[in-house]
Order: sequence, then structure tokens, then C-alpha cells
Amino acid sequence: CHLVATAASLAVLALAGPASAADNPIVIKFSHVVASNTPKGLAADKFKELAEKYTDGKVKVEVYPNSQLYKDKEELEALQLGAVQMLAPSNSKFGPIGIKEFEVFDLPYILPDLATLRKVTDGPLGARLLKLLEPKGMIGLAYWDNGFKQMSANKKLVDPADYKGLKFRIQSSKVLDAQFRTLGAIPQVMAFSEVYQALQTGVVDGQENTPSNIYTQKMHEVQKYITLTNHGYIGYVVVVNKKFWDGLPPDLRAACDKAMKEATAYGNNQSAKENDDALEEIRKSGKSELVKLTPAQDEAMRKAMMPVYKDVAGRVGQPLIDEFLKETR
Ligand code: LMR
Repeated sequence: CHLVATAASLAVLALAGPASAADNPIVIKFSHVVASNTPKGLAADKFKELAEKYTDGKVKVEVYPNSQLYKDKEELEALQLGAVQMLAPSNSKFGPIGIKEFEVFDLPYILPDLATLRKVTDGPLGARLLKLLEPKGMIGLAYWDNGFKQMSANKKLVDPADYKGLKFRIQSSKVLDAQFRTLGAIPQVMAFSEVYQALQTGVVDGQENTPSNIYTQKMHEVQKYITLTNHGYIGYVVVVNKKFWDGLPPDLRAACDKAMKEATAYGNNQSAKENDDALEEIRKSGKSELVKLTPAQDEAMRKAMMPVYKDVAGRVGQPLIDEFLKETR
């Protein structure tokens, strides 16, 4: 049996032909900040699998999860410098490199569900936003989902007044800054990789994130309450270094485009399930209480956050907000 297996693998090797291209592949370093078993992690691994398959190994994708290579801000700088070739930062992270428009996705309660989101990202507005990346040396290839954010703290967050005076970790988005200030809370920008420790040591009191991010970073182990607010969305823009991408041999670029298209469909089809499963795991762990809002409490949260739209109109742009709202209502 062992001999047969060996003969079979030799045959496979022979079929693969001369190994020269695969010996000297073009490498795509794909850096990201979350765990592998998250919507983004799984989509990245799927892209690797398909890109390597469709290019017969002429392209090799090295995925570095968990901020192994770079944290939030550094990874965007590294991409622009060409130290890595591909990333998928959240919409909330492009402000520091001078692109404010993706922060429109951060507006509270702007997306009722994922189907509505898809209308935006797959439509003309989504395409136009991707074009903003090119002057910054990047090309936007796809929109990847994570899901809807929940609020966590060691205090039970039910009414808008409960947020007053608490420190919340945020991603580097001015919209998120405005959101917490509107609630009377104190926002603090912090890299994703530092959140668990900051919660554990009390540097911040709370944070907002998707169930899959909360669960895979073990935030639920250091937060007594998670309130199911679904008040905002986290999703990603897959970006590549423009010079690198434009310089790929056309056949390999086409194969990678195909791999990206399929990895996107794969990831976006299962992101909601990933988050449902993570929420169930959190519930089962018994480490954190999941708090549901009554319709009246939900309404009060929505009302309390409405001023954010006016606060950030000057930054994100009122016409963009209006267009976004038109496409989602
Ligand atoms: C965060 O910083 O909370 C998220 O953007 C992390 C991620 O990539 O999902």
C-alpha cells in the first residue's frame, strides 16, 4: 500500500512537468490582523488556494494573519512601500492615509442588512469608491464582509446614558470617534492587536466589534456584557500595491482576478454564519452575558446616534452620505 502511494505521488509529480516556474514563483504577501478562523481569514486562505491553483503555482500567496507582520496602520504603509502586496483593511482604516470616504460605511445604522450592503458595494458607488485608492498607489479588488458590530463593556449597556464617561477602543475612523462622543463616551484609537490587553488591564472600558472578532480575540473573556446592538458594520476592501499588480504578466493577473472573484463569493456567502457561530460560542462559554435590547431601547440608541450624520458631513461629504442613503433605502 505504501509503495502504491509512492508510485502515485511520483506520477503526480511527473504530470506536473518541469518545476521551473513553481521553483521561482511570484510571491504575494497578504498581511492581515485577524485570526484565520474569521470571515476575512477564511477568504484570504481561499484566495491563496485558488490563486496558486489557477496559476499552476507560478504565483505563491503567503498569508500572514493575526498582525504577525504589521498592525493596522503599519500594514497600509507597508503596502504603499511594496513590502507586502495585498491587504484587506476594514473600511474604517483608510483615514490615516488620506482617504476619508470609506468611513461612510461606519455611520451608525446606515446598513439595515447585508443584502443592502451588497447593493452599494456591487453598484456604481462601490466602484467609484475603489477608484479613490489609485492615486495612493493601491488598487481595490473587492469588498469582503465581516458583519455587524456589538457593544461590549464590564457595565451593562442598555440605554444611551450608560455609555457616558466610559472609554471605548475604536478603529482609526473619525465617524466612530463622533459616534462615541455623541454618546458622551471617550473614544480611543488603538490597533486591533492591542484590544484584548487594553480591555483586560482596564486601559479602555469597552469596545465595539463583530462576534467573530470578539470571540477569536477572546474579548468576551474580559468583558462581562455584550449588548446586541448591530449598530454598525465592519467590512473590508481588498487592496493590492498598484505597481505590483500592473506589473504582473497579464495571464497571471487574470488568473488571480478569477481567484479573487471566487474567494470573495465564498467568503461573503459564509460571513453571516461565521458570526452567528461565534455568537453561539460566546453564549456557550458563559463568560459574557449577551444583552438584548427591547424595541424601545433600540429606538433610543438610534435616536441618540443620529447627530453623528451631521457631525461628520463635513468630513465624509454630505453628497456621498445622501447617495449612500439613497442606494440603501
Ligand atoms: C478592528 O480593528 O476592530 C477590525 O477592523 C479588525 C478586522 O480586521 O476585522
